[in-house]
Amino acid sequence: MFQPGNGGFCQGTNSFRVRGCSTWTSNRVADKPEKCMNENLKEKIKRGLQSYLPRLWKTYCVLRTPGAIKKTRWIQERLEKARFRRCIKEGKPYFGPIMAARQGAPVRHAYMRALVKQECARIGDRPYRILEIGSWAGGSAITWAGAIQSFNMGRGCVVCVDPWERYLGNLVCRAEVYRAMHEALKSGDIFNLFLHNIRFSGFHSLVKVMRGQSGDILPLLKPETMDLVFVDGAHDYASVAADLKNASSLVCEGGILCGDDLELQLSVINAHHAKDNAAIDYVRDPNTGGWFHPGVTLAVAESFGEVSAWEGFWAVRKTGRSWVKVVAEKLDREDIRVPPHLG
Ligand SMILES: C[S@@+](CC[C@H](N)C(=O)[O-])C[C@H]1O[C@@H](n2cnc3c(N)ncnc32)[C@H](O)[C@@H]1O
Repeated sequence: MFQPGNGGFCQGTNSFRVRGCSTWTSNRVADKPEKCMNENLKEKIKRGLQSYLPRLWKTYCVLRTPGAIKKTRWIQERLEKARFRRCIKEGKPYFGPIMAARQGAPVRHAYMRALVKQECARIGDRPYRILEIGSWAGGSAITWAGAIQSFNMGRGCVVCVDPWERYLGNLVCRAEVYRAMHEALKSGDIFNLFLHNIRFSGFHSLVKVMRGQSGDILPLLKPETMDLVFVDGAHDYASVAADLKNASSLVCEGGILCGDDLELQLSVINAHHAKDNAAIDYVRDPNTGGWFHPGVTLAVAESFGEVSAWEGFWAVRKTGRSWVKVVAEKLDREDIRVPPHLG
């Protein structure tokens, strides 16, 4: 029997582990010529390139060096900056990596759209009212407004609540994306990009902006006046829990409370680990190995238990004093398409 860490034969197979080598090496004779052939082929291609296409060979050699990778990244960044400037100059929405303008997985927006279609068909002939907590560069606001335009003949509105000011605390030093977001908030560039994106989205008459903290604004709004509230503000546990509490009373009977970034539900994760990291934006769960937002997972589970979720987008429906899952089969598969601004 093969012993971990020792070289030796593995029972029932023809293979053995090479001491100090993590991969299995087969001693079947049939494998050897194949390996030799691959090596010969590689050698032939190399010699062919060197003699017949020396420039291509040189480029390949340069690109293989670590410095070259940095250089290509630098070129990519330059190209992205040029694309950003073009969008601003030509009046087109921008949702690329600059300022992390594109947030989260675009596939979630396909489910958001499909949900609005289903709900607009349900409510009949009246405006559909959406409240969004956390708008950043406007990606989700445009998805909601586009859905109202497509499925409710443009009747309705999207109210965006966001202070567009520093909120990431000491997370900023952790990763490049947080640093970029922090800078974009500090300079005010992200609010300007939000305004630009909404203006050139084609739905700007449907979007209303309320700039400020959700904790200050939500209690001022009239209860039960929203058909759908989308919670995507600060992601630490305390903020999500407060937003869910304030948002619950704003949803009308039969309406939807939903949010972003529920990658893993409480039933599958290590709850102790999540509680220890409840103030951190994004961590890896030791049970599943998956990355998730512990604040979102904990607050959602505490308020509603298990909820409906599609690729991280989650939702529940208000029925009387309780909240129930949203029937997934009713989301029209035909409409699970990423909206064009993020496609
Ligand atoms: C993850 S981003 C939102 C992404 C956006 N929904 C999208 O999909 O494109 C989080 C947003 O929450 C906002 N935010 C942070 N704290 C907030 C608070 N207390 N109230 C409202 N928004 C807040 C941030 O300014 C940021 O724009």
